[in-house]
Amino acid sequence: MSNQKGSAEQKLSQQALEQIELEAAKYPPENRASTIMAALTIAQDEHNYLSKPLIEEVAQAVGVPVVRAYEVATFYSMYQHKPCGENVIKVCTNISCMLRGSDEIVEHLQSRLGIKFGEVTSDGKVGLQEVECLAACAGAPMLQLNKDYIENLTTESIDKILEGLK
Ligand code: FES
Repeated sequence: MSNQKGSAEQKLSQQALEQIELEAAKYPPENRASTIMAALTIAQDEHNYLSKPLIEEVAQAVGVPVVRAYEVATFYSMYQHKPCGENVIKVCTNISCMLRGSDEIVEHLQSRLGIKFGEVTSDGKVGLQEVECLAACAGAPMLQLNKDYIENLTTESIDKILEGLK
């Protein structure tokens, strides 16, 4: 969970830098670049999203060219580039989820939260995002709430999820 939600000035803490070093230690020194995804995740967990200066700092910490860090940070949907809410709900609308009712799930979520995909509630508590297949098709329709997958969604289970958010 991030501790500086949407902070304007993003800097890696000493603790985050130490965590990155622990990740780097898992690889031979010549493969230190393989730490990049874990390092970006550590940075995002600390700051809620990845600003350009933060991505640059991560690149420096890992020891890769900045462009390599940007490539990774902009390719994967799990990396955020603007404040995305204290809780992030990612709804899969890909084929299996669509065939199993994701349209109704999306409609219910948007109606309950009063926001569309790509938006954050006015209190900053919940962000709603549309994502492609999250590889949990057997549990369709599904969503990801922060780091947890929630499957076999119904409008009733959505209500319970929303009530349980801090
Ligand atoms: S289509 Fe939704 S998880 Fe695969």
